[in-house]
Amino acid sequence: GAPVEVDISSLQEGEKLTVEWRGKPVWIVKRTKEQIAELPALDSQLADPQSLRHPDEFTPPYARNEARSIKPEILVVVGICTHLGCSPTDKFHAGPQPSLPDDWKGGFLCPCHGSTFDMAGRVFKNKPAPDNLEVPPHMYLSDTRLLIG
Ligand code: FES
Repeated sequence: GAPVEVDISSLQEGEKLTVEWRGKPVWIVKRTKEQIAELPALDSQLADPQSLRHPDEFTPPYARNEARSIKPEILVVVGICTHLGCSPTDKFHAGPQPSLPDDWKGGFLCPCHGSTFDMAGRVFKNKPAPDNLEVPPHMYLSDTRLLIG
């Protein structure tokens, strides 16, 4: 499939944009400062906080960091659960939500078998999903133009 160019100039903090790449949904999320700041504190609750499992498949070298991204505020991930391929739903907001732990800091919840992912697409421990969400190959053409693929 051809690379997909995306203009992210109008993406606001806390918003998500979905584009299609190779028939898959790719999410582009502009994280808030609070969401970025929370990432390191979650490490002990995550299955693979440093994205060391299958890095070649799921996390390109430039995303092998805590935020799993090139720019700390912009998350780019394939919106497909690494378990059996459902598409997780957004649960960006902190605070108690039905069926989620009280200390949930926001992220993504897979409706199929309950895998939860943080705001870097990192999967929580003891969940069926074996890997973090895939970071697709991507690069910035300018501050506001992203090339996926
Ligand atoms: Fe997502 Fe099973 S497909 S938890």
